[in-house]
Amino acid sequence: MKIIVIGKSGQLAWELSQFVSTEHEVVCLGRNDIDLQNFVAMTECLKHQKVEGVINASAYTLVDKAQSDIDNAYALNSEAVGNLAQACKSLFVPFVHISTDFVFHGDKGVPYLPDDKIQPLGVYGASKAEGEKLITNTYSERSCIIRTSWVYSTHGNNFVKTMLNLMRTKPEISVISDQIGTPTYAKGLAEASVASLINNVSGIHHYTDTGVASWYDFAVAIQRIGLELGLLDKIIPIKPITTEQYPTPAQRPHYSVLDKCSFVRALPEFSFNHWQTQLHMMMKSLKTELS
Ligand SMILES: NC(=O)c1ccc[n+]([C@@H]2O[C@H](COP(=O)([O-])OP(=O)(O)OC[C@H]3O[C@@H](n4cnc5c(N)ncnc54)[C@H](OP(=O)(O)O)[C@@H]3O)[C@@H](O)[C@H]2O)c1
Repeated sequence: MKIIVIGKSGQLAWELSQFVSTEHEVVCLGRNDIDLQNFVAMTECLKHQKVEGVINASAYTLVDKAQSDIDNAYALNSEAVGNLAQACKSLFVPFVHISTDFVFHGDKGVPYLPDDKIQPLGVYGASKAEGEKLITNTYSERSCIIRTSWVYSTHGNNFVKTMLNLMRTKPEISVISDQIGTPTYAKGLAEASVASLINNVSGIHHYTDTGVASWYDFAVAIQRIGLELGLLDKIIPIKPITTEQYPTPAQRPHYSVLDKCSFVRALPEFSFNHWQTQLHMMMKSLKTELS
């Protein structure tokens, strides 16, 4: 299958660009290669590429900036997604789109199911929810929406790399301990996206690594593994703080663990790993890339 990935330099897009297979070809298109706001040009571009399946790894992901940059967030997370779904429909190719735990409010207290009530707390979540709706209304028969959370990779900016930098340069750090979710290595998410595409999975599903953590737990694990692998050479105190002590423009869900059962039912052969196992793998790759 010739798979077109929308996005090139992002965390997920980069992991998809590393995907190696004898049966499938992956071609990543960045913002200079395809115009997501122009339906006709986009469809022509995909046709010209002889596309057989599309994975959308592009998104407006600046959660706080989205609060004041509403039009641009909606342009990429909703309108462009609707265009892509329409283009895939006109070419009758399967479409995989990535969405977010931020479509939920965060007050449920047990893992969110794919059909639980959508109640985003900010513009980013609302724009992603609107994108989901456009796909479902346009091309539900061959579209798969994968909601995920707390994504990191060796490539791009993310919590793991930020923490490592702070742990190297600060005498102590404070990290939020009352937001609960699941960290997810983009490499596994890339594999889940490809598996969903080539197996024609449709509907809304959740994919994250397994287990549950607060941002504080995540930071503690980064420090432990960083010391073990020699990415850090000293221990600094990590102080747990509340969301109230670290105000941000966008409100985030307090609890956004995603129930993955429907993904398991759709792809029973697919294997999941615990987030700490995946974190260890990512940090080992980071060490290799740095040396
Ligand atoms: N990061 C997280 O913690 C997280 C959590 C839950 C869900 N997600 C979802 O997971 C998916 C992948 O996220 P990620 O972390 O890989 O995102 P990312 O690293 O921020 O990458 C964003 C991608 O979007 C593309 N993009 C940005 N602005 C664009 C524009 N104006 N026109 C065209 N393309 C544009 C970039 O394209 P170029 O390659 O051309 O630069 C890049 O490939 C997204 O759908 C995101 O909503 C992420």
